[in-house]
Amino acid sequence: MSIELRGAGILGTGSYTPEKILTNFDFEKFVDTTDEWIVTRTGIRQRHIAEEGMAASDLACNAATRALESAGIGAEKIDLIICATITGDMPFPSTSCILQNRIGAVGAGAFDLQAGCSGWVYALTVATQFIKTGIYNHILVVGVDVLSRLTDFTDRSTCVLFGDGAGAAVLGPVAKGEGVLATCLGADGSGAELLKVEAGGSRLPASEETVKNRRHYIKMEGREVYKFAVKIMVEASIKALGECSLTPEDVDLFIPHQANERIIDAARDRLKIPAEKVFKNVANYGNTSAASIPIALDEAHRSGRIKAGDVVVAVGFGAGLTWASAALKWVVPAK
Ligand code: ACO
Repeated sequence: MSIELRGAGILGTGSYTPEKILTNFDFEKFVDTTDEWIVTRTGIRQRHIAEEGMAASDLACNAATRALESAGIGAEKIDLIICATITGDMPFPSTSCILQNRIGAVGAGAFDLQAGCSGWVYALTVATQFIKTGIYNHILVVGVDVLSRLTDFTDRSTCVLFGDGAGAAVLGPVAKGEGVLATCLGADGSGAELLKVEAGGSRLPASEETVKNRRHYIKMEGREVYKFAVKIMVEASIKALGECSLTPEDVDLFIPHQANERIIDAARDRLKIPAEKVFKNVANYGNTSAASIPIALDEAHRSGRIKAGDVVVAVGFGAGLTWASAALKWVVPAK
């Protein structure tokens, strides 16, 4: 059976980061680090941190509302909500269900998806299939993480890297050959140990011992993740572009996961994409995990960095290990 596929594209974008900011100088006061070290090794200057009591769904709700406004679509028109997160409000119910109720997306299906920092591009890929096949018309794709809740603020090798935020997009049908042209997903579970929070699940449920030994915090082999990130961002970008017969030379805007400026620059260098075609905001937000790419996309869209017809490539990597890339021909969503 062959199915006549439609085009699927982004109709609107939105993002939200909490007001509270921690600068590198703030970190100098409680861990053995310097602004100079953080800026040279990562490019990060500040990150936004959720106030106490604020959860993933609070951030997601703000980003989603902005994306719906930008798309000019009421929440009741949303058929499905996919929320990419590793820091949902609680183990269950899903953050997507909480969000569905908050925004009034009555009748929409809702589920969370976990793929670390690659999560939003994974979610975009899933949503694209439903739109292309005509099963759904409007899907809200959210990336949200509140990594400050999993951050060990006594571990200088990780605590300076992360920030909190949310980004969202509304997907809908567009002309064939526009919108999402190709996506590429990947995973290598042999690298699961390189980046993890080991306690709090079914293997090591929360106990006095796990709390005392700080096992509910992020542990990372930074150097190994770095090497993997550069290699996979290049490969995944080329793969998604290749699927639609494009090359890095055709790219108008490259939107990489914002984890570390050195990783972005190394990948850009290998892809031979000119610096002015690369979107970077890691200095302002740090690594916001699943929110990083949709926040960048929203900023690029609202600031006019993306024009109709532009070829945009988004690529992420993260815990799992996972990676995901998407090549898009930008349609003109409202702002
Ligand atoms: N301030 C000062 N010194 C520090 C700090 C800090 N904040 N952190 C580490 N150091 C020290 C280390 O202790 C080490 O000291 P030593 O040589 O005396 O042992 C030295 O700096 C070098 O440490 P490295 O870890 O080798 O530094 P590197 O240049 O690799 O940078 C970094 C570390 C920034 C973590 C880098 O490896 C990186 O960015 N890796 C990728 C991380 C990443 O992208 N993770 C996100 C994955 S996405 C997700 O799913 C969440």
